[in-house]
Amino acid sequence: MFTTGPIGVFDSGYGGLTILNKFRELLPQYDYIYLGDNARTPYGTRSFEVVYEFTLQAVRKLFEFGCPLVILACNTASAKALRSIQQNDLPHIDPHRRVLGVIRPTVECIGGLTQSRHIGLLATAGTVKSESYPLEIHKLYPDIKVTAVACPLWVPLVENNEYDSPGADYFVKKYLDQLLGQDPEIDTIILGCTHYPLLIDKIRQFTPSHIHLIAQGEYVAHSLKDYLMRHPEIKSRCTANGTCEFLTTESIEKFQESAATFLHEKVRVRSIVLE
Ligand code: DGL
Repeated sequence: MFTTGPIGVFDSGYGGLTILNKFRELLPQYDYIYLGDNARTPYGTRSFEVVYEFTLQAVRKLFEFGCPLVILACNTASAKALRSIQQNDLPHIDPHRRVLGVIRPTVECIGGLTQSRHIGLLATAGTVKSESYPLEIHKLYPDIKVTAVACPLWVPLVENNEYDSPGADYFVKKYLDQLLGQDPEIDTIILGCTHYPLLIDKIRQFTPSHIHLIAQGEYVAHSLKDYLMRHPEIKSRCTANGTCEFLTTESIEKFQESAATFLHEKVRVRSIVLE
């Protein structure tokens, strides 16, 4: 008998809640379990080995909770750990479960959005350094030029609830100017970090109006819907009672307080240890 259970959604912290929200909007029938490694966030500045090890621990934990499918709703984890987990770990742990990321679904949409074929990527240092976005983009669209800038201060702005403050303006403008200074022909910018949709109003304020801003939640949610349609063997194992549970490596109080920024609702949370 194959395991049945909720869809697991993993992020280094709170950012993945922007993806979970879109899953729940588009596919409200399923059960979800969200795991935030809040005690060890951010991942964006950590090494490949550490992000891989932490992400694998999280996937194993979500498997313990019965998830037949886990989405790495974190670009840094998708960039640095997804491939190794899919290729090296899953065959040993359980070849009948699946782990998916957020980069490929985001990349798939851009071919139809850019006219100039010049794309900008704003992401964590880890995601930029991994080159996962340009690699995936060039597999599908070899003609597109990609320019990437790391925004190391944006995640702390969001995590510290400063994303709406006047002080955030300086750092939002700084990285956008850097990106558009490097390639003024950019007409589409990927917000390649799950935290950035919370900064979108400010990002919009400092971005010329002809430029498309891509917040990935919607694209990832449509891609999940499509995936489940194409994989009935996985879909039939995802339980569908419309529930949502939250796990954190931080304290319950801290999670409830900070998650309110992303969720606008009080949630039931359990504190767990990853090892
Ligand atoms: N949520 C992560 C991402 O999408 C960024 C936060 C972090 O640095 O841990 O890349």
